[in-house]
Amino acid sequence: MSLINENFLELQDSYLFTNIARKVAKFTQENPDKEVIKLGIGDVTKPIVPACLEAMHKAVDEIGTAEGFKGYGPEQGYDFLRKAIVENDYKTRGVDLDEDEVFVSDGAKCDCGNIVDIFAQNNKVAITDPVYPVYLDTNIMSGRSITYLPITAENNFIPELPKEKVDMIYLCFPNNPTGTVLSKEELKKWVEYAKENKSVILYDAAYEAFITEDDIPHSIYEIEGAKDVAIEFRSYSKTAGFTGVRCAYVVVPKSVKGYTTDGKEVSLNKLWNRRTCTKFNGVSYAVQRAAEATYSKEGKEQIKANMKAYLENAKIIKEGLEEAGFTVYGGVNSPYIWLKVPEGMTSWEFFDKLLEEANIVGTPGSGFGSNGEGYFRLTAFGTKENSIKAIERIKQTANKLK
Ligand code: MLT
Repeated sequence: MSLINENFLELQDSYLFTNIARKVAKFTQENPDKEVIKLGIGDVTKPIVPACLEAMHKAVDEIGTAEGFKGYGPEQGYDFLRKAIVENDYKTRGVDLDEDEVFVSDGAKCDCGNIVDIFAQNNKVAITDPVYPVYLDTNIMSGRSITYLPITAENNFIPELPKEKVDMIYLCFPNNPTGTVLSKEELKKWVEYAKENKSVILYDAAYEAFITEDDIPHSIYEIEGAKDVAIEFRSYSKTAGFTGVRCAYVVVPKSVKGYTTDGKEVSLNKLWNRRTCTKFNGVSYAVQRAAEATYSKEGKEQIKANMKAYLENAKIIKEGLEEAGFTVYGGVNSPYIWLKVPEGMTSWEFFDKLLEEANIVGTPGSGFGSNGEGYFRLTAFGTKENSIKAIERIKQTANKLK
């Protein structure tokens, strides 16, 4: 008899974005004449940037030759990409990393989900509420106990340090789903907490490229001492159009330690490397060459243009919603706009209303946690034309609700 991991039975029936996709598919099937605008899951509409595409084409041709063929690559990523990451994403911000502290992967979602492998089941985990569901679900799957840190308008979306001791802390800033940020001062408190409590911070910086304001850290390693307590996740998905291509990386500094039950220190870099060698065969060569091209002069310019366009959409959505009388958060350092749903409605009721009347898909805040109830998320990843159209339609629906 093969026993199952019963922790899976503790999960909600299906993943948030799968639920939404199912609802939208049903609506589209029943209303084939309606033009639905999708501002739900944070998938990009701008294709992979030309510099990356060109590099990928070149790499594909290269592996078709006897001399250029690549078999299994290094599990942790090719040196050329790890070097480019260290120099461009970190050295420029005053952070020194060794190349072997960077692990190239097929996505930040996978990294956030897989990282739990190297931690004990009885660790106490802190996550914000609302939260990107992957941190919660993967820890439920492995049977860990969760402490929720509310982030709502009442605390300016700034999580308070937990009252009880926690061992693993997930922080995502710019935040998914609220689109809000944490200042260096605030982040410093977390690094200090982690040091005092020998905890580890799992810092998801997948949206750092959207930061427009000063004094907002792009990397947790900008905070002194963070290299001793933090693991950081980054992604090419939303910047260079890699949601389908798949490439990301995780930084596990050699100085971050975990502990055995008898208190012995163990390098998490060593454990993650061991896990990676056993369970992963690396990202394909052509994709890593494409990722490398994000650091070329052209690649950087093209990404900057993407960020500008998405942030412009965010502004259109944010200001349009405010004109329609909504209270709105995020959208300044983030592609996510977080709004309060009209009084008396739940997040899912608002979802249904928008889908049926405005034919707009968003994400109900309650899908990200109980403190997301009463909120709703829209993304700026659509086209400009659709962002404008979506706001016009939402305004009409909002007028009817008044
Ligand atoms: C989201 O919509 O929250 C993100 O697109 C999900 C993801 O990046 O996996």
